Amino acid sequence: MTLISDRLSRFKPSLTVKISQIAREMTISGEKVISLSSGQPDFDTPKHIKDQAIKAINDGFTKYTQVDGIPELKKSIITKFESENDLKYDLDQITVGVGGKHVIYNLFMSTLNKNDEVIIPSPYWVSYPDMVNLAGGKPIILETEMKDNFKIIPKQLESNISEKTKWFIINSPGNPTGTVYDKSELKEISKVLLKNPHVNILSDDIYEHITYGTKFYNVLNVEPKLYENTFIVNGVSKAFSMTGWRIGYGAGKKELIKAISKIQSQSTTNPCSISQVAAKHALQSEKDFLQDWLKKFESRKNLLIDFFESITGLDPFKPSGAFYLYVSCEGFINKKLKDGKKINNDMDFAEYLLHDAKVAVVPGIAFGKSPFFRISYATSFDDLEEACKRIGTSLKKISK
Ligand SMILES: Cc1ncc(COP(=O)(O)O)c(C=O)c1O
Repeated sequence: MTLISDRLSRFKPSLTVKISQIAREMTISGEKVISLSSGQPDFDTPKHIKDQAIKAINDGFTKYTQVDGIPELKKSIITKFESENDLKYDLDQITVGVGGKHVIYNLFMSTLNKNDEVIIPSPYWVSYPDMVNLAGGKPIILETEMKDNFKIIPKQLESNISEKTKWFIINSPGNPTGTVYDKSELKEISKVLLKNPHVNILSDDIYEHITYGTKFYNVLNVEPKLYENTFIVNGVSKAFSMTGWRIGYGAGKKELIKAISKIQSQSTTNPCSISQVAAKHALQSEKDFLQDWLKKFESRKNLLIDFFESITGLDPFKPSGAFYLYVSCEGFINKKLKDGKKINNDMDFAEYLLHDAKVAVVPGIAFGKSPFFRISYATSFDDLEEACKRIGTSLKKISK
């Protein structure tokens, strides 16, 4: 009898986490690695949020809470949905988990039966297919193209829906491309979904607040008739730079919230009581710091776009949101390195940058779309300038 369960062979560990780890190990052994692989803002959590957490500790708010979140936090989530998204929810339509990732995991664990299908546009956030596999479902990948701004074409969605389709994932602004669906695109997609009422929509809105001159819309803003079929996931990780606090939330129909709570009750129980207080405060208070963060993100984004556009063989996609740049490295595939080795794919390209330039990026294969790489600009301007210099030097060594 083997010790490790068959379940473990159904999915891969996260490649983004793996690359960050290799970069960290290289740093520990004395190499000056610039890691552009991680998906978290480099800003500190705003002080007024941290202060509320300290107060919660001093007040003794350090015990178990309701499994799926304290009512005060749920109320602030409801107010957020009302004021920012024009969407109405009741307390029993909200669940709070240990990050958006946990909420999505719970959602799949509580809804997918063997071979139930989940439609995932690629390039996708690394965790979606693996979480579906882990829950016993079947990921159906819809490939999108850079020429279409990495957006799915409604016809393509329609032809991939089967009677087994349980979920369709929309992630806008999206990781890894930063593409943002506009109202008319969402409307076209919603027409397909209205014709297929057995398909549920997972709207992952985690990058909602990180956009550059483009307004965020949820599919429910253009088609309220999809309300019953839509589950929204969001959290405080990205907009409030609270990745380590691990608070995410979901909104949808009561039946789903109950099922998710049941799974959570036998796994993590409640998310950290102190983090819940901090998240409540984050959602309730002014987000004036965000303008400054967005300005910084934008100037870093522009620096990278200018740099990558200046290199023959690379082609960056111009994002409208999130804090990643997805860059085609097609022009470097099949090129020879000095040691005679060939760059066969984007994994080889990323490994070359890691070892030669000491810059960690994530190869497109992790997101289901090659030959690309993702670079995160949630890093200081100085580090990005230095990374560009190093990448430029390393790429010049490759024979054309
Ligand atoms: C698209 C997307 N969804 C969800 C998450 C989960 O974030 P968290 O678990 O920190 O809330 C991430 C994090 O990188 C993400 O990129």
